Amino acid sequence: MIENQFEKVETATSVEMALQKIQENIFSCILLDIHLKDRNGAEVLKFLKDNPENKNHNCPVVILSGIINAQFVDKNKNRFAGIIIKPFNNDSLIEMIQNILSGKKEKDYNDIPSPNCQLPFPIPQLQDKVNKVMDQVKKNNKVKQLFSELKIDRNTDAFLMAHIGMLINVATGISNKLEWNTDKTLEKFVYAAYLHDMAIAEKPELLRIQATTIELELMKDKMDSRDYKLLFDHATLAANKIDEIIEVPQDVGIMVRQHHELPRGNGYPLRLPFGKITPLSTVFIVAHDLVDYIWANPNWTVKGYCASVKTKFKGPHFAKVLYALSELS
Ligand SMILES: [Fe+2]
Ligand SMILES: [Fe+2]
Repeated sequence: MIENQFEKVETATSVEMALQKIQENIFSCILLDIHLKDRNGAEVLKFLKDNPENKNHNCPVVILSGIINAQFVDKNKNRFAGIIIKPFNNDSLIEMIQNILSGKKEKDYNDIPSPNCQLPFPIPQLQDKVNKVMDQVKKNNKVKQLFSELKIDRNTDAFLMAHIGMLINVATGISNKLEWNTDKTLEKFVYAAYLHDMAIAEKPELLRIQATTIELELMKDKMDSRDYKLLFDHATLAANKIDEIIEVPQDVGIMVRQHHELPRGNGYPLRLPFGKITPLSTVFIVAHDLVDYIWANPNWTVKGYCASVKTKFKGPHFAKVLYALSELS
């Protein structure tokens, strides 16, 4: 695919070969897989960036990986130009390389990035359907502007892009099992996944917090008071913005407003009892929780997850959603 698009492409099938090639040639862009057969691709990144005298020290590196670990991203975020999460969308990869080669700044081509991730459940044609929704988003100016406010810097924040991509995948997987598998429902999940954390998109440390009201209360003294307020209000801030735009599909604002609520009335910011949490929000809340669980537990299983949240997610809607999830694999 890359050879069809670009004039000169060199390939290395091992870390050793890659290290040899980068010492012999000057490259315009390097695509680097992390999980390689013999050694870790991160070694190549380390060599490139830790040795200022090497020919490709300033060459932009794009990481390709199936699973990107949050620690790796935090540690290395200033050392690569982009991340593509496998399985990836060919167009986004080509677009990213073209923009790097033409020297465009990330923000110019990254108003609305697209998730490159179909993990963890195989859902046929999901990426195509998501792309269709995003095409619609780009056609409507007001909606496009709303999405552009996300200000994701795809270069560095793989966490948010993976969070969005996985969230769409899990929410769609569950809703398919519940037989709510219409394109309209998928569209709502795409909107909610993109927009729910828009108020904290630039604060990766806040994005990673998943807490009950009590846990939040305990964190209060240890956090910067503005950050605490932002975290507490982020669902409301995003939902208020969404509700101003009539073109956003119905229910998206509610899902976003409720995405940190919990069925025992111990979520935030509204402490809603489970009867007030809508069925679509229920799917979104469970999907969001599972996405965090997957991120924190690389060896996760659906069974292990369902067992761990039995008490947390009590209540009729939630039981149904967990049952649907338990049938997914
Ligand atoms: Fe989130
Ligand atoms: Fe959130």
